[in-house]
Amino acid sequence: MKAATRKVVIAGNWKMYKTALEAVAFIQELLPLLKSVDLPYLAVPFTAIQDSAQAADAKIVIGAQNMNDAAEGAFTGEIAARMLTEAGAKFVILGHSERRRYFHEDNHFINRKLKRAIADQLQPLLCVGETAEERAAEKTAEVIKTQLTECLEGVAPEQIGKMLIAYEPVWAIGTNLSASPEQAQEVQKMGRAFIEENFGKEAAAEIRILYGGSVTPQNIKELMSQPDIDGVLVGGASLNPQVFSQIINYQQV
Ligand code: PGA
Repeated sequence: MKAATRKVVIAGNWKMYKTALEAVAFIQELLPLLKSVDLPYLAVPFTAIQDSAQAADAKIVIGAQNMNDAAEGAFTGEIAARMLTEAGAKFVILGHSERRRYFHEDNHFINRKLKRAIADQLQPLLCVGETAEERAAEKTAEVIKTQLTECLEGVAPEQIGKMLIAYEPVWAIGTNLSASPEQAQEVQKMGRAFIEENFGKEAAAEIRILYGGSVTPQNIKELMSQPDIDGVLVGGASLNPQVFSQIINYQQV
């Protein structure tokens, strides 16, 4: 059984899809379809945050997909946490594998961003996950532990409980090849044990660990039946309001 004290988080990650107008139209279609008690999360492009937050009317938690680690400064093209919160963002995805891979973000940079997000009142959603090669070489546990150690370095235990982690195996993202519920559970259980060892029992009991990678209305129930899967991070299937609502309402259907 999942700990009843941990609220389920169904989060969408739109990546580089949808203008502000498209985002508002999506939200207007999604709102009447929502049946779950726990608020869904939606990470939208920067330019859609303000209008999305307004349209969501506090019924969807709106967030961003990235930020810089500095409070402010001469960093052309970058965005600060304070700009995101003022626009209406409540959370921020950090360390997504696409940012690690295409924009060369490493654990130390992600760690600095994470601390900045916490300092500036944004809830971090930290992504970790192994590649297909790392899994084949049986390095999954080692890779996840290194990512968690380096990304969470110096974060206070009482802050850990409030944040979100998403286990996203790189080989499962956008591939239609979701990890099996058992595979995800195995890694997420290990992740929670790591949090307990390093940040204490309370933080481990409180932190929500999501699974991400080819989540669909077809596999959501099975994934969510696992004790250490507290929610999901959904890419492709979050782009259509009908499909995303089926994932959000998985307990009702
Ligand atoms: P996917 O993406 O659901 O399209 O596999 C998940 C993610 O990248 O967060």
